[in-house]
Amino acid sequence: MEFKSLLLDITDGIAKLTVNRPESLNALNAELLSELECAVYQLEQDSAVKVVIVTGAGEKAFVAGADIKEMSSMTPYQAHQFALKGQRVVLSLQKMKKPVIAAVNGYALGGGLELALACDFIYASDKAKLGFPEVTLGIMPGFGGTQNLARLVGPGRANEMIFSGRMISAEKALAWGVVNELFPAEALLSKAVETAATIGGTGLIGVGYAKDAIANGLNMTKEDGFRYEASLFGVLFATSDQREGMYAFVEKRKAAFSGN
Ligand code: CAA
Repeated sequence: MEFKSLLLDITDGIAKLTVNRPESLNALNAELLSELECAVYQLEQDSAVKVVIVTGAGEKAFVAGADIKEMSSMTPYQAHQFALKGQRVVLSLQKMKKPVIAAVNGYALGGGLELALACDFIYASDKAKLGFPEVTLGIMPGFGGTQNLARLVGPGRANEMIFSGRMISAEKALAWGVVNELFPAEALLSKAVETAATIGGTGLIGVGYAKDAIANGLNMTKEDGFRYEASLFGVLFATSDQREGMYAFVEKRKAAFSGN
């Protein structure tokens, strides 16, 4: 499918999905959210795709939030539908079996930070700025930010960021555990690709199950989470990848995983 505001490049099993509306700092309007929903579905189905990287076009912004111009005249019903649409995108990324890395190349604000938080982990440029400015617009985060940020950094830090509307620096985001690692802007994408390639060379059914166990385990008691983990662990012993990975170790050769 052709996208108007998304660029999609698939090379060596790594899909690079770029939000491309640089004239509005890649702000998410309803049409772009539909495109993202469609792209996530397409990438999940595409057997040539092993790992996904999400980034923003241009040097200034990852995504500067939901489109304020479009939202400014919404009715409560339309705003509710818009939030549900954004949440569908966030949830579809979080539920993807394939790993997803956010490469935050600049401003990640509001819906933009919510998009990054929907990815499995975040790499950022050392010049990036992250925040939830919604309260300065008289609203609050609506694409899962209150839930995902609080789960990632705890309620104290989430409260401060969301109530103040202030942006935090890349360094603070790193110290708070919002992002995993910082890189100079020009190295960010190649570092994300490097990690994506490392992940892509592993047994990806195991990666997908681990993603499932981590995400779903957070909503379970620890005991239920352990039980869930053990059952997924057992299922992996029905895969060719388990045989290949273990035989390769014993035979002292590099495993050639097939994803089956
Ligand atoms: N929506 C629509 N347009 C946006 C936008 C947004 N979120 N962010 C930036 N733009 C547009 C600007 O209006 C401007 O367009 P024009 O040239 O037509 O005026 C263009 O992008 C460039 O932006 P600036 O001139 O403002 O650039 P700057 O360097 O001076 O400032 C900025 C950069 C600090 C990121 C500033 O653009 C800004 O504050 N943007 C809004 C950030 C924001 O509040 N995001 C949260 C949105 S609400 C939300 O996301 C709700 C939710 O949870 C779902």
